[in-house]
Amino acid sequence: MRDAHADAHADARADARADVPDRPDRPGTAGADAALGAGLPKRERYEELRSRVSGLLEGDALADLANVAAAVYEWLPDLNWAGFYLRRGDELVLGPFQGRPACVRIAVGSGVCGTAVATGEAQVVRDVHAFPGHIACDPRSRSEIVIPVRDVRGTIVAVLDLDSDRAATFDRSDRDGLETVVDAFASRIDWTRV
Ligand code: SME
Repeated sequence: MRDAHADAHADARADARADVPDRPDRPGTAGADAALGAGLPKRERYEELRSRVSGLLEGDALADLANVAAAVYEWLPDLNWAGFYLRRGDELVLGPFQGRPACVRIAVGSGVCGTAVATGEAQVVRDVHAFPGHIACDPRSRSEIVIPVRDVRGTIVAVLDLDSDRAATFDRSDRDGLETVVDAFASRIDWTRV
């Protein structure tokens, strides 16, 4: 006689296995946590992310940045960290993010984030180990992209930092796409409130 209870459990286990990809998009997680925008071509992926980010803004600076970090992290594939460093004079200080705890202070000019601020240019790093002065907050990170964020006067007030546990995750098209995402929120945040 079939044991319906045992069969149900066996079916559940089979379903769970079917959902688990060969390599989870989020380290240490199963397929249910795969990035929502992974299936789209990059152009559409960033257009949709821009629209999602715009729709999340409510006018409270800290809450808005927290939601932007979460929206980016759940949408883009292959990330192990996504979030902000906020400019405080000659330093960057950790802001809202998703991922493992990270270093709190980075000097302007240091690491990938500090270089983005010092140069005023987005940094696309295909191999973090080849970037002089890279600051390893999470040893799983292998590639990284950092986009400077400017207020309405054009002053760099923060950076958006994305890390990937895969090599060469980001290229010029990601930089262009993320710059449009940053444009969608930067002028709508009151940077004096973070
Ligand atoms: N890798 C960065 C530091 C921040 S973590 O990636 C979250 C850097 O070199 O600036």
